Amino acid sequence: MGSFVTCLEAALDGTVLPHDIPQTTHEGRPLLVRYDLAAVGRAVDRDALRDRPADLWRYAELLPVEDPANRVSLGEGMTPLVRCTRLERELPCRLWIKDESQLPTGSFKARGLCLAVSRAKELGLEHLAIPTAGNAGGALAAYAARAGLACTVFLPRDTPRVACLEVAHFGANTWLVDGLITDCAQLVREGARRYGWFDLSTLKEPYRIEGKKTMGLELAEQMGWRLPHTILYPTGGGTGLIGMWKAFAELGTLGWLEADSLPRLYACQAEGCAPIVRAWEAGERFAEPVKNPSTRASGLRVPAAVGDFMILDAVRASGGAARAVSEDALLANMHRAARLEGISLCPEAGACLAVLAELVREGAVTPEDDVVVYNTGAVQKYVELIERELSDLGRPEDVDWSRIEAGAL
Ligand SMILES: Cc1ncc(COP(=O)(O)O)c(C=O)c1O
Repeated sequence: MGSFVTCLEAALDGTVLPHDIPQTTHEGRPLLVRYDLAAVGRAVDRDALRDRPADLWRYAELLPVEDPANRVSLGEGMTPLVRCTRLERELPCRLWIKDESQLPTGSFKARGLCLAVSRAKELGLEHLAIPTAGNAGGALAAYAARAGLACTVFLPRDTPRVACLEVAHFGANTWLVDGLITDCAQLVREGARRYGWFDLSTLKEPYRIEGKKTMGLELAEQMGWRLPHTILYPTGGGTGLIGMWKAFAELGTLGWLEADSLPRLYACQAEGCAPIVRAWEAGERFAEPVKNPSTRASGLRVPAAVGDFMILDAVRASGGAARAVSEDALLANMHRAARLEGISLCPEAGACLAVLAELVREGAVTPEDDVVVYNTGAVQKYVELIERELSDLGRPEDVDWSRIEAGAL
């Protein structure tokens, strides 16, 4: 089980670059990892994957780490694909939630940072740095600790508190910044210039996408190599959406998919920060940065995405759309999944469920459609959003047993 990586390729103009030295971007735009897929097809039988361990390394031939000794692992991957029949009664369709909240550090960021840190180790990098909306910082801090690499994390001061604590807890050099994620990114660039830190910002290096790609590989395998009609994905920097689309393309080339049709991708954002939606609506390929981004779904508070054109290309090619919802709608849907299905939905995924409700209302999703919502993180990392639930709890001595017996409580 070794990698079949061949090179890196610039996403915008196809320039080919070697993969055996550290690489960042090409003319400021992202790089993609390429593999010898014909050789993968000869070496691996799709059905043989069943006998491999239930983690993301089961797809090793389609991942960039060359020496298995460089894998930095916390047991990530093979998250549950949960059928949601109680939600289906309100949102008629066949609905699954791919529950990424169960990954190490409680979010899908574990996948990307697992691969990025493993490759950093393989390429001999020593000090990693990242600007983060929260979850990516926690994941990097954990994987860097596991790899024994130094790491520095910058978070906006108003990032959900648990995420800040988590980063510090895993031993990263932790900085809270009075500003946005773009201000944090500026500080990482400065550190990279002055001290040689390696910048792991979203899409500023090629390997986080490869980790996120495994969300798509796993989904295909879990659904018997038949993809759903519709996927809803909470989109900030877009690595997950771009990674999944890449996964489906690679699976198509390998001939592993049972049907030719690909899912419609819906990039879901919050109204307070929806650069991709604005570009989608205007028919543009590149997005204008948002001036005053604001949403409590902190992972969606990304005012400018370096891979904007890749997100928009994928959404358009899939026949999907980019949609934004209000804060009330995303928070209400976060609660809806918790109460109806017992799933710890993050507010970002609440946006997806809110978009699904609109699509059902509009008839764009019907009861015959297979739909997958990605739950990219655990709500426990956003205690500020659920604290209110404790405020109207009663004291035991105030319990009115007669009301309980009458079925009123
Ligand atoms: C929980 C959560 N969902 C979604 C996103 C957006 O992810 P992507 O960069 O893949 O668009 C983030 C990013 O921070 C996040 O933390």
